[in-house]
Amino acid sequence: MSKQNRIPLYEALIDHRRKSSISFHVPGHKSGAISHQQSENIFEDILRIDVTELTGLDDLHSPEGVIREAQELLAALYQVKNSFFLVNGSTVGNLAMILSVCEKDDVILVQRNCHKSVLNAIKLAKAHPIFLEPDYNQEWKTATGVSKEIVESAISLYPEAKAIVLTYPNYYGMVYDLKSVIHLAHLHNIPVLVDEAHGPHFILGEPFPASAIQLGADMVVHSAHKTLPAMTMGSYLHINSNRINTNKVKDYLQVLQSSSPSYVIMASLDLARHYLARYQQSDIEYLNNEITLFKKELNKIQSIKVLEYPDSYGDTLKVTIQSRSKLSGFELQKRLEEIGIYTELADPYNVLLILPLLKQNQDFLLFEACSRIREILVDIPYHFKEEEVLTSSGNISELAIPYDKWSCYEQEIKDISTAAGFICAETIIPYPPGIPLLLTGELITEEKVSQLEHLKNTGARFQGGSCLDKNQINIFSKADSRKIRNLKQ
Ligand SMILES: Cc1ncc(COP(=O)(O)O)c(C=O)c1O
Repeated sequence: MSKQNRIPLYEALIDHRRKSSISFHVPGHKSGAISHQQSENIFEDILRIDVTELTGLDDLHSPEGVIREAQELLAALYQVKNSFFLVNGSTVGNLAMILSVCEKDDVILVQRNCHKSVLNAIKLAKAHPIFLEPDYNQEWKTATGVSKEIVESAISLYPEAKAIVLTYPNYYGMVYDLKSVIHLAHLHNIPVLVDEAHGPHFILGEPFPASAIQLGADMVVHSAHKTLPAMTMGSYLHINSNRINTNKVKDYLQVLQSSSPSYVIMASLDLARHYLARYQQSDIEYLNNEITLFKKELNKIQSIKVLEYPDSYGDTLKVTIQSRSKLSGFELQKRLEEIGIYTELADPYNVLLILPLLKQNQDFLLFEACSRIREILVDIPYHFKEEEVLTSSGNISELAIPYDKWSCYEQEIKDISTAAGFICAETIIPYPPGIPLLLTGELITEEKVSQLEHLKNTGARFQGGSCLDKNQINIFSKADSRKIRNLKQ
């Protein structure tokens, strides 16, 4: 029997449940015996395996039994040196990954359109980020990945960089020439850390893009919960080369993760690995066929267009529909919600749907969804106007005011329309997809002002930007020279 048929942690939990044991340990619900009167027994089954580090159930932070075996099976499946279960999402993976490679004042190259956890990690490390602006796709109207050229320039400017942090694929499933970028970084012995939160299924091969692991990245983080059947927060971190100090990574994981990690989440990670390991070619063919039919049906609706990846190469589990009517992406998303279709995200132009990694003969309501969408959109007239062209300036930028000097500045509120040329004192993130438009400490350019106004006018939601509703923004004003002097001493 293939080792991948085992589900060691899950099986150990089920064995423990069968014992009808009496719990005198945490958690306080005592395997579900004590529950809230209003909980309608929804948690009942789950609570029976929501246990703690009991004999036979191992310890995430010092694994020697079933958790160790489960993590080894994960590493074997992904063909990496080490794999770790994460119970706080790719968020904690990014934190541990980045903190393990850099320290205060170390230069780290970062793809600008990254998740906020990447930026938080760099801030915690007090490292010196150099932001690499990604390319933009004109049709999708979204940022994609970094070009080989920008990475080449950044490395020649900052050969001392401790690492390069990349995001692959982007939220919409778009990929780029990661292989060349990794090759380039490795020529200079710079480790490549990849936030592949959205691509844990890429190791399945065609039609999915190559995985960052297969392309040689040194460390890779996966949100198993995003595209595999794992529970929310369940993620993986993989070490794929000797450039990485494994002990440091382990140390940060135990610093950053709970000392009471959820066995339910960990069991779902074990199950998700098993699900992926047993995915067959016939499953891929079935899934591909379902997705092709789904997209074909959607494309019959005149007021939307299913976007195709450049060179047809991207994550087929993601389906992006672009509005071809006067509705913005946000308005389109709202219409879909009115008919019970909840999507992953919207932007001013698009709505993103994430499809399930179906196996042969598994049903999902794809065609029911199509007919509901058709019904709600049938009377909406086609309207398409080519909008302004987004271009990438190919910028390599750094913070105008570094992390440790923020506290030396006073802050002021300015009207957005007059904020260009000032330094932003807050991070503004259109959400989802959680990619910062403006970072604290960054120069507010005319271009950023117009992007912000555009997002506001088309109904985007934001994290940060406490006075955006009044068309205002926080900026750094006067510096306290005494504080700056103290910092230098
Ligand atoms: C690219 C990217 N990285 C990291 C994260 C954080 O992942 P998690 O929700 O698993 O913590 C997200 C979440 O949306 C993401 O899109």
